[in-house]
Amino acid sequence: MSNWSFLVIHTILVCVIAQMPTADFPYVRTLDKNGKFVLYWNFNDTHITFEVQVRTFGYVGLGISRNGSMYPADVVLGWVHNDLAYFGDYHTVGKMSPVMDISQDWTLLYGYETSFGTVLRFVRKFDTCDPEDVPITENTTRIIYSFQDRDPDTDKFQLLWHGKENRGSVNLHLTQTSALPYDVASSQWSSTAWTLDFINNNFTIHEQRETYRCVGFYLPDLGGKSHIIKFEPKIDAGNEEYLQGISLYRCNIGDAVNVSQIHGHGFNCLEAPPVIQYCKEFLAGWAPGGEAFYLPENVGISVGDSNDPVFYVLSTQYRATGGPQGIKDTSGLRLTLTRSLRQQEAGFIDVGSYISWQHFLPPREPEFTTKAYCSQRCLMWGFKDALDPMNVIGVMFKTHSLAKAVALRVIRDRTEMPWIMKDDKYSPNYQIMRLLRKPVTVQKGDRLSVECTYDTSSRTRSTLGGYFSENEVCRAYILYYPKKFIDGCLGWSSYDQLRGRFQEPVLPEDTFTYLNSTDWLRDQQMSRNLVIALATSTEHSFCYSNNQAPQNAFDHFDHPQYSTRLTAPSTCPQGAV
Ligand SMILES: *[C@@H]1O[C@H](CO)[C@@H](O)[C@H](O)[C@H]1NC(C)=O
Ligand SMILES: *[C@@H]1O[C@H](CO)[C@@H](O)[C@H](O)[C@H]1NC(C)=O
Ligand SMILES: *[C@@H]1O[C@H](CO)[C@@H](O)[C@H](O)[C@H]1NC(C)=O
Ligand SMILES: *[C@@H]1O[C@H](CO)[C@@H](O)[C@H](O)[C@H]1NC(C)=O
Ligand SMILES: *[C@@H]1O[C@H](CO)[C@@H](O)[C@H](O)[C@H]1NC(C)=O
Ligand SMILES: *[C@@H]1O[C@H](CO)[C@@H](O)[C@H](O)[C@H]1NC(C)=O
Repeated sequence: MSNWSFLVIHTILVCVIAQMPTADFPYVRTLDKNGKFVLYWNFNDTHITFEVQVRTFGYVGLGISRNGSMYPADVVLGWVHNDLAYFGDYHTVGKMSPVMDISQDWTLLYGYETSFGTVLRFVRKFDTCDPEDVPITENTTRIIYSFQDRDPDTDKFQLLWHGKENRGSVNLHLTQTSALPYDVASSQWSSTAWTLDFINNNFTIHEQRETYRCVGFYLPDLGGKSHIIKFEPKIDAGNEEYLQGISLYRCNIGDAVNVSQIHGHGFNCLEAPPVIQYCKEFLAGWAPGGEAFYLPENVGISVGDSNDPVFYVLSTQYRATGGPQGIKDTSGLRLTLTRSLRQQEAGFIDVGSYISWQHFLPPREPEFTTKAYCSQRCLMWGFKDALDPMNVIGVMFKTHSLAKAVALRVIRDRTEMPWIMKDDKYSPNYQIMRLLRKPVTVQKGDRLSVECTYDTSSRTRSTLGGYFSENEVCRAYILYYPKKFIDGCLGWSSYDQLRGRFQEPVLPEDTFTYLNSTDWLRDQQMSRNLVIALATSTEHSFCYSNNQAPQNAFDHFDHPQYSTRLTAPSTCPQGAV
């Protein structure tokens, strides 16, 4: 295939942010579409410091919403008038001016106006122990912002309506986000780094049908071993709404495959040649809300070494356009590579629910949790001879629209260790690669559990595991170092403890029919039987590796029994919320 247009190599283009990032703020997001409200932040073990730079000479509001709406929320308001900065800790209770908190827990460090607008810097504790504040946790945070062109009347403190344009709400993981490297704009980073794009080749998005598209690529000669140090989505403007997920996988392929029949060609993933379907070492991904991810500065993912896989598969889940015809797409993923190799070599392991009917969700359940285990034997198989633990540094969860909470746990012997990641306020619209504050170790002999909690109240029929939006998934892509043999470990329940309506055992071959023909809306007894079956049945794990030749292993084991040893309780004094 001579047409290389869909696998484009660029020299790096540095994107400069509108304002000067203040040197000590490694984290930054522009909150509004027009680039008028920029939030910088940094944190240590106890406190978080924000700096807002807003294109206004009026007042500025920043807050943490309890549920995504403008109220109820914990907010600060500030402005600069005659060179004096005004600032206060408030909370919103309804469609009216915010109410000042009795306890002022956010502290202004400074505020001034520049030709750009208003700059305010302030600090608070993660948990202020004030019931009028919202604690900052590892759950997804809903940040709200607003601004107005005029300062409030300081005497009466009547806030002027900020208008629909000048406000909004965005999801953020304040403490689990990759930092913008300080040297991103320096010649040191850019002279040794370049990018490699894996994109769809003008795929025409179907109007009525969702499509699951796979494109194969043979890696060009990179001229030697390199490290991936960043990956990011490359989404065609206007096509975001038609994209449900993009993943990049790689594998080694034998000589038997005629590469020219696959390189650059697109397939329906579910009917693609085996070389595409079984190419499953996860390397990079995007899901709604996702952004660029920078690996920590001591970590890279190896590519182009003699043992590294050379065959890549970009898989894209497209939603139907639902009307517009002939919409073309060249979205994909962009990797940033460097030849200055980093100290640690990382890999991903894909864990969670095997995609099948066994990932079964009854309808009309406001809170239904599924768990998938990666067994002790499977993980041991995946370590091979290596004894050193996995240092988990990042996780990206993948679900469809029904998920509302997720967790990734480690079980050591018969005890649950502090979790790797847990998000009680998970949003399927914000599926971003998250960097842990501190690496968590997974040892040889541990087990993993991936849990997703779904709200199926909107469904009248059962939801099964699957690739399309009527189906669900529950996966965690775990980034860790040093890289091990294993690429994935998926689990499902055997349902061998499932009882029928009248408590009679359900034969394995009848399980699906039984689940699918149950009237879940009326049959309370079956709902109880299902919950018991999921908590007691034997479990399966399937683990696989694309290292050299594809290999895999199955495990069938008793339902894990363990006690919990969780993270430290709240540091607030007794009686506080
Ligand atoms: C897609 O099609 C347009 C117009 O026909 C062309 O300019 C562009 O190069 C194509 N892109 C790819 C990735 O093939
Ligand atoms: C964390 O930051 C706060 C606010 O800047 C500061 O008062 C505190 O001393 C810092 N703690 C540590 C351990 O550095
Ligand atoms: C958040 O809570 C408020 C007050 O209870 C309610 O009016 C609003 O609709 C809620 N928003 C969402 C998105 O649930
Ligand atoms: C959020 O996270 C913390 C721990 O990080 C947890 O204690 C808290 O209950 C979580 N849930 C909500 C809804 O805030
Ligand atoms: C590989 O496929 C191409 C295109 O179908 C064909 O022209 C070529 O002869 C094949 N090569 C081998 C070795 O089979
Ligand atoms: C499940 O049951 C419904 C009817 O209740 C039926 O339409 C559907 O085909 C069944 N699913 C499968 C996979 O058999």
